[in-house]
Amino acid sequence: MMMNFPIISLERLNGVERKDTMEKIKDACENWGFFELVNHGIPHDLMDTLERLTKEHYRKCMEQRFKELVSSKGLDAVETEVKDIDWESTFHVRHLPESNISELPDLSDEYRKVMKEFSLRLEKLAEELLDLLCENLGLEKGYLKKAFYGSRGPTFGTKVANYPQCPNPELVKGLRAHTDAGGIILLFQDDTVSGLQLLKDGEWIDVPPMRHCIVVNLGDQLEVITNGKYKSVEHRVIAQTNGTRMSIASFYNPGSDAVIYPAPKLLETETEENSNVYPKFVFEEYMKIYAALKFHAKEPRFEALKAPNVKLDPIAIV
Ligand code: OGA
Ligand code: NI
Repeated sequence: MMMNFPIISLERLNGVERKDTMEKIKDACENWGFFELVNHGIPHDLMDTLERLTKEHYRKCMEQRFKELVSSKGLDAVETEVKDIDWESTFHVRHLPESNISELPDLSDEYRKVMKEFSLRLEKLAEELLDLLCENLGLEKGYLKKAFYGSRGPTFGTKVANYPQCPNPELVKGLRAHTDAGGIILLFQDDTVSGLQLLKDGEWIDVPPMRHCIVVNLGDQLEVITNGKYKSVEHRVIAQTNGTRMSIASFYNPGSDAVIYPAPKLLETETEENSNVYPKFVFEEYMKIYAALKFHAKEPRFEALKAPNVKLDPIAIV
């Protein structure tokens, strides 16, 4: 049976419907790893402006480059499946621990300003969501934010992507299947061209486009901290034959030196026979493994970090 993709209105967090909304968020975290937020408080006109500027920037600065790349690799005329390339045109912006937006080439002043404003709003929304997760998990308020903090605070960045119209979507993926490495991901996606899918019970399910909503999903680090109560879910992007899909994905992640481990409070409730405990590691170490194994299953990444971490103290070996 096909269940409905979870759509959650944050407006209903206030007042008598709070309990029901918290319950919906909990169900989405436990059973989907994904949900769509409406009434999230981010002004719709800000989203509209960002969408317009992103699409203009793509046409002006990215589209031609993408076409050249495609033809130089012969991707427009492939006859067998391509397994090592994604049909996407992207650039990345970092907001935290410090912004690099002033260093990025080709962005108009207006685009920089709007992107900055949007990212500040999203950062607040990510932190609000982390606290709602804490509440549902029985963790103290601020626990997850603190867990991600490290010595310099969280890493927060945006991947701006366009998935151009594609002649052979069955042979080349917009973005190959993966789980996200980090914490919590907030996605502003095209409201007409679809393509994002998540894997649920062995089936690929569309994450339906909806105007002005924010798609939220959980990354591998939340799976570790919750000791598997919440799971990062595999997803992919199918390129479309009917148009280019915009996606602005923002990643609220641990700081590179944050030490990630299952919340002790959540381990107390584990039974003896169900004591699969996730590893403890420095986030940066996780990212090294992820960089090499992003498009592989996540379990070997967790396993690799469970191996005893033998570090020789230079003084001890003299
Ligand atoms: C990602 C991702 C989905 C999208 O960048 O990790 O899953 O719709 N993006 O762009
Ligand atoms: Ni992803």
